[in-house]
Amino acid sequence: MKLTFLFFASAVLLACSVFAAPPVEEGKTIFSARCAGCHNINKVLTGPALAGVDKRRTIDWIVNFVHSSQTVIKKGDATAVELFNKFNHIPMPDHPDLSADNIKNIVEYIKSEATGSNPEKAPFARPSQLRPSYKPLTFANYGFFLSYIALVCLLIGVLIFAVQLKQYQRSAKEKV
Ligand code: HEC
Repeated sequence: MKLTFLFFASAVLLACSVFAAPPVEEGKTIFSARCAGCHNINKVLTGPALAGVDKRRTIDWIVNFVHSSQTVIKKGDATAVELFNKFNHIPMPDHPDLSADNIKNIVEYIKSEATGSNPEKAPFARPSQLRPSYKPLTFANYGFFLSYIALVCLLIGVLIFAVQLKQYQRSAKEKV
């Protein structure tokens, strides 16, 4: 049964890695849900406009600040204190559950949406260039389909084997 579990787990993992959102999309989802209430990328709202934040701060600074801005401010970080004063002492809520990778993805999303720094956003940018990471799956990706189907077959095989084994064990017990 352990083996079945292993195969099942690897199939789930594979499916997750195939269907996982690309980094920028993940950043966008988190940003919309948890940051957009106070931040716009190109406009000042309750919080500063975030365009170019990757250039004015280091990624470590951003990660620490998003995890707990008040900790950074209380430590006396000059930039953070200045920002806090400038934004009328409105404390930004802590987001300790976001991983460094989550935050990097948010920064990637900010970069992709910042006007000015992104020539792809020019009025006549070709739509195909806006989402270069989107490649629709077609049957030309048969390598992918083959390995996927092979994996599913393998999984079914293992399940059937496990069921047979159980039945065999049961009938062996009944004989005793
Ligand atoms: C309740 C409003 C609020 C929410 C929600 C919020 N922020 Fe902020 N954010 C602020 C304020 C206000 C500041 C200015 C600094 C301060 O006052 O502490 C700030 C500052 C920042 C800065 C520093 C900007 C700079 O110019 O250096 C970053 C980066 C940042 N926020 C990212 C985020 C991210 C990422 C999220 C979502 C996970 C988020 N914020 C959610 C209010 C908010």
